[in-house]
Amino acid sequence: MIARRFNELSFVEKTDFVSTEQSLRVLLAIESSCDETAAAVVREDGAVLSNVIASQYELHEDWGGVVPEIASRAHLRRILPVITAALSEADCQPEQLSAIAVTTEPGLVGSLLVGLTAAKTLAMGLRIPLITVNHIEAHIYACGMGRDHTIYPSVGFVVSGGHTNLYDCRSATESRLIGGTTDDAAGEAFDKVARILGLPYPGGPSIQRAAADGDPGRFRMPRPLLHSGRLDFSFSGLKTAVLYAARGIPGPDQLTHTPTELVPDLAAAFQQAAVEVLVHKCLLAAEQLSYDTICVGGGVAANLAFREALAEAAAKRSLRLLIAPPELCTDNAAMAAIAWELFAAGHVADLDADVLPGLVRIGKAGNAPDDSELRLRMAGYIAAFTRLPEVRSEFAENPQAEEPQKSFHCLKQGA
Ligand code: KG4
Ligand code: ZN
Repeated sequence: MIARRFNELSFVEKTDFVSTEQSLRVLLAIESSCDETAAAVVREDGAVLSNVIASQYELHEDWGGVVPEIASRAHLRRILPVITAALSEADCQPEQLSAIAVTTEPGLVGSLLVGLTAAKTLAMGLRIPLITVNHIEAHIYACGMGRDHTIYPSVGFVVSGGHTNLYDCRSATESRLIGGTTDDAAGEAFDKVARILGLPYPGGPSIQRAAADGDPGRFRMPRPLLHSGRLDFSFSGLKTAVLYAARGIPGPDQLTHTPTELVPDLAAAFQQAAVEVLVHKCLLAAEQLSYDTICVGGGVAANLAFREALAEAAAKRSLRLLIAPPELCTDNAAMAAIAWELFAAGHVADLDADVLPGLVRIGKAGNAPDDSELRLRMAGYIAAFTRLPEVRSEFAENPQAEEPQKSFHCLKQGA
């Protein structure tokens, strides 16, 4: 069954950090906050022994963005094959693990729950500590991975599909939000503009490709809040400007599709405007905090135009710029290597740890279905496929264990 499921994975990646060092402890990290199911084995010196990622692009493509219910169902199908692959690529037996790390915030509630339940079950069965990881802090931490010096204190900038956040990062465990978007996240704007232009999801890479052949000067695009003097962003006006330039203003004459010949120039104009705002605010944060180090992570940090513009601007001001390596910009579990720092600082989670999606969970207000039954069923499902005798005996009798999808009807849509 696992082999068959494994064929569903659209993308499996292994880093080349493999080491023969045996004496150091290793942990298994699990990431399922959005639409990537990922697991990694990370050694306490930060070496990544495996880094397996199953992307769900093809499942969300038709909608032009992540559909939470589809994402959580896919995580449920893929989490065990991904964990198995990560352990086997690292040549690691479950009994050799010293801890389990898992992303618990922020993200989509159903997606986070799948990873957390898998992690808790493994931690409980193996009797090892559970360490909960903040996805945003992990994105920033990724900027220092593979480097032999500290990245703190620094401006942390996470530019992804869900976040455009600036942080004052004093250490791996102390960061303070100092700025963010007032509407769409930057990656979300790339995805929505790609949809307007008829380009495939995910929009970031599509826009980058289309923009390579375009003239950014042909269309004038706004640079929202560029000179506000504050560390805030807004991308919805820019997105609307692209829509009107592409199809005309709303009314009977507005086109339903963007003419193909306009696409490269529109993509280039949008990308240039977005990049200019992102770079400007990032440097403004460094100036306001009087820091000389900038760490940039998240999916949009993979964008070549953004990387080049940032590098140029940082060099002009003699700032140290650490952008996460492209393979660690988009979601992955290897960046949960931050868990070793948390562990060292005594941050070990209880087995009743909960997810913190970053949105109000209506269930807590009392008018949504209780999700305890869902958790039990998921734990049963996970346990049924692990070789952990104590856990199996506790949950294996659960008649729903083989039917994970059925249990998902009670998740809140849209969270
Ligand atoms: O960090 P990530 O994988 O997931 C979230 O935590 O959101 O970021 C995904 C986002 C998507 O919106 C995608 O369009 C964007 O990152 N992205 C890019 C590029 N590669 C991914 N945006 C611009 N240029 C890229 N090359
Ligand atoms: Zn992310």
